Amino acid sequence: ELNVFRLPSDVSKVTGALRGVGRNIALVPTMGALHAGHKELIRRAKRLPNTIVAVSIFVNPLQFGEGEDFEAYPRTLDHDLATLQELGVELAFTPETVDLYGESGVAVTLDPGPLGAELEGEMRPGHFGGMLTVVAKLLNIVRPHYAFFGEKDYQQLVLVKRMVEDLNMDTRIIGVPTVRCDDGLALSSRNAYLSEEDRERAAVLSTALGMGANAGAHGADAVLEAARAELAAHPEIKIEYLELRGTDLGPAPVDGEARLLIAARLGSTRLIDNTPVLFGAA
Ligand code: PAJ
Repeated sequence: ELNVFRLPSDVSKVTGALRGVGRNIALVPTMGALHAGHKELIRRAKRLPNTIVAVSIFVNPLQFGEGEDFEAYPRTLDHDLATLQELGVELAFTPETVDLYGESGVAVTLDPGPLGAELEGEMRPGHFGGMLTVVAKLLNIVRPHYAFFGEKDYQQLVLVKRMVEDLNMDTRIIGVPTVRCDDGLALSSRNAYLSEEDRERAAVLSTALGMGANAGAHGADAVLEAARAELAAHPEIKIEYLELRGTDLGPAPVDGEARLLIAARLGSTRLIDNTPVLFGAA
């Protein structure tokens, strides 16, 4: 049976009581418009033994920049709650903005550090500070043993892990591989913005990443070259960045595992994707 809570104090009370009787709690933070990617996070959470799964649905104004899609962001709460019910989720946390930020908003926010100004952070100033602030609030309200995040938003996952480590938060962060459509496009609530034509073109992002990853045996330059060659055939896709980094998003290592990340614009829609790359693996 799904229990829906709007107020932070109510959800804290319930998760606190569950903790007290020895249950584990797993949190899956979302902005709603739930798709198969979100569902995969929830399914993974449900596999943990003795664990109550809580899903938060909140479109966080603090992580949207001026001129971004906060107003246009899809909101499908009734449908989302039906999905959670179907998946056997026990707890939904669906605050309104005033419930989390009060009438006057928050004055104290989190600073994501240098990585917060790179890649996505360079394109979206303030985004990661707003994201970390709401995730910290959600972790403090729910106090979960585990929290699940998708590799789809790889830099977000890395920054949340770093926050938990740097601020000694008592939650284990678990990353889940990206769920994709048949043509390779990473599922995203923002895919709904794509025209039919752009939707077809959008698969080029994941194809290019795949070409890059396949060149891993030949080193970093070959990876970037292979990805760029695929993208060059599609000038209608405007690349914002294509970068090879370490798994912690520091400089790419010479061997072992790395991460290839891309952001691009199709028409007015921004898409991001990334893939693991193994160097030296023939
Ligand atoms: P949202 O975009 O709704 O995503 C919620 C979670 O689902 C994130 O951890 C995201 O990485 C994951 N996710 C999205 N698409 C996915 C896919 N195709 N495969 C696997 N996982 C996927 O990310 C946010 O919300 C917000 O920033 C949030 C963390 C909730 C803070 O506001």
